[in-house]
Amino acid sequence: MDITIEPAASNPGLHATIAGWLWNEWGTPQNRGLYTSLVAHCRKDRIPAIYLAFVNGQPAGTVGLLRTDLLSRQEFTPWMAVLFVLPEFRRRGIAAALQSHAMGEARRLGFSEIFLNTKMTGFYERGGWVFLETDVDDHGDSIRIYRKSL
Ligand SMILES: CC(C)(COP(=O)(O)OP(=O)(O)OC[C@H]1O[C@@H](n2cnc3c(N)ncnc32)[C@H](O)[C@@H]1OP(=O)(O)O)[C@@H](O)C(=O)NCCC(=O)NCCS
Repeated sequence: MDITIEPAASNPGLHATIAGWLWNEWGTPQNRGLYTSLVAHCRKDRIPAIYLAFVNGQPAGTVGLLRTDLLSRQEFTPWMAVLFVLPEFRRRGIAAALQSHAMGEARRLGFSEIFLNTKMTGFYERGGWVFLETDVDDHGDSIRIYRKSL
């Protein structure tokens, strides 16, 4: 299996596809445009950035480095977000490869720590993320905040 990872900003022809994946996973009927705009405004060599994984040349998943991913916690930055792998490519280590790529890019961009929020328990601990605390997202749902040193 050949995995390559490129900035979404270098693949404008796939922006609508990526926005569709993210909206399907996290969006609401009203906010497709939010994801279209997020993907369209990502950059290559600074945040916000979204990276796109290709498996044997086929687009398979994303990860993002965003300035913020939790409205209430503006003191933390940057965030790893929009980690997504298409169902047919899951459980082959693609999320692990995307995370590792995002960490390398965050280091390269000069950050020494990074944050994420999730409803999952047990997944990010495997990658060395440290649980900080629970909080509430902008839907009012309880989420878990993690931190990682880079
Ligand atoms: C979570 C996700 C990115 C994992 O992608 P992946 O490429 O399958 O991940 P990897 O192959 O690197 O790792 C797979 C491991 O993650 C574990 N995992 C997947 N989803 C999990 C969850 N909800 N809770 C705990 N562990 C989970 C699997 O059990 C698997 O471990 P195993 O093979 O030892 O059983 C993918 O399932 C996905 O896109 N889900 C929908 C979006 C999402 O929830 N993103 C994370 C938001 S915080």
